[in-house]
Amino acid sequence: MSTQKTAPHVGREQWTGQLGFLLAAVGSAVGLGNIWRFPGVAYENGGGAFLVPYLVALLTAGIPFLLLDYSLGHRFRGGAPTVFRRLGRRFESVGWFQVAASFIIATYYTAIIVWALRYTFFSVNLAWGEDPATFFVEDFLHDAGPTLTTDIVGGLFWPLLGVWIAALLVVGLGVSRGIEKTTKVFIPLLLVMFLILVVRALFLEGAVEGLDTFFTPNWAALGDPAVWIAAYSQIFFSLSIGFGIMITYASYLRRRANVVRVGYVAAFANSSFELLAGIGVFATLGFMAAQQGVGVGDLEGITGVILSFITFPQIISMMPGGPIFGVLFFGSLVLAGFTSLVSILQVVSAAVQEKFGLSRVQAVAAVGGLAAVISLALYSTTSSLAVLDTVDKYTNEVGVIVSAIVACVLVGVVTRQLPNLQAHLNAISTARVGTWWRVLVGYVVPLALGYVFIRGLIELVTVPYGEYPWAFVNAAGWGAVGFLVLVAVVLPLLPWRRPVDDFVPESLEGRLS
Ligand code: ALA
Repeated sequence: MSTQKTAPHVGREQWTGQLGFLLAAVGSAVGLGNIWRFPGVAYENGGGAFLVPYLVALLTAGIPFLLLDYSLGHRFRGGAPTVFRRLGRRFESVGWFQVAASFIIATYYTAIIVWALRYTFFSVNLAWGEDPATFFVEDFLHDAGPTLTTDIVGGLFWPLLGVWIAALLVVGLGVSRGIEKTTKVFIPLLLVMFLILVVRALFLEGAVEGLDTFFTPNWAALGDPAVWIAAYSQIFFSLSIGFGIMITYASYLRRRANVVRVGYVAAFANSSFELLAGIGVFATLGFMAAQQGVGVGDLEGITGVILSFITFPQIISMMPGGPIFGVLFFGSLVLAGFTSLVSILQVVSAAVQEKFGLSRVQAVAAVGGLAAVISLALYSTTSSLAVLDTVDKYTNEVGVIVSAIVACVLVGVVTRQLPNLQAHLNAISTARVGTWWRVLVGYVVPLALGYVFIRGLIELVTVPYGEYPWAFVNAAGWGAVGFLVLVAVVLPLLPWRRPVDDFVPESLEGRLS
């Protein structure tokens, strides 16, 4: 009886089909992480040397964990808190921890989309002038440095409000009418724009030297733990795993869903896009190095924010046809970022709908509104840059990594659900996962991430991140982590307004071949 009551399909939104889900999953994965984060991380970690750990991290942790998220969402049919609660009542916290991570990420992710949006327009007339660094830090952000201020910058506030309204409208329209439809337009458009950009980059003077740097392996760097840490962190952010997104997305799949194959395709598409971004960016850096008469490895300012918003404008100003290149580059960031943003918001919206019995529109208005207010308060002010940088670091390297480790230990050791999840995946998919999957999720992923986490933590507590003052780092960074813990502790104490516990996972009998 109880199985009937919470039968997976009753009242639950659905993707229109497997292709819709695949596109949405790719839209979520391909984001700022691919274009804005990956090339800088690869450059900092030895260029070509980075590709080997990156691929190892993808195969040993990324794909197995992606399939874990899919199997959890599809088998237990819910957002992250529902799924972890159904694994065991006392595990609901883990779901809320993930929801809180998504909430925080959404608040600053919108801000970067806004920067990219403004820079798409700045590109048209190279508005940054002769000195893009001063333009970005002073004229655009009005940066007050590592402090917490309440001074609002109009040029950030209004576009940020606009992006929030657009994103909440899409999420409010629902999984198939909002998210899926948007993705179906944005992702092909992104692909076309980005391909034009990369092909253009390949014909720039010095492009070959840039690519040489990207593709020449430096085997010695493989002995450096920092390179491996960077690779594992990048894969989790990039594949949208460990913070509830893929759990939530998989819960909207029909009963029969070839999730293993979708997982392989989504991971392949995401990494292909990431490599494409690497090729485009390194070819462009080769051009810059040639203009400056230095080696590609000697360039400065090739990290996340600086690479996109200072170095790229410099390069765009130097190249023939720069404005078009700029519009393509920053426009791609906006498109890629937006389809990821809606997936991050869906995690929060779904969780709140299920827990508090709200309609989609009510949930989006309530939590989306709250996230928008926090986002505007933190990221349209003169202290946005340092706050964003610090919150991003701590949320990903502490929050997401811890949540992924806990999820693995929970399914692998505490509840011993891995055999059931493996059977579930194999029952619904044509491609099968073998014992290797259980070994990777149960042992390799938590051990690798445990190592990454401890090394990263030692660094965080001994060296002030970004050379910011300790008081600032502690307030912004540990403040963000504190928020995750607070949400994880408090939300499970509140009562459920929709049935959650009278759930029995679908029987797999007769479906195992
Ligand atoms: N996966 C998303 C990105 O890469 C969050 O930006």
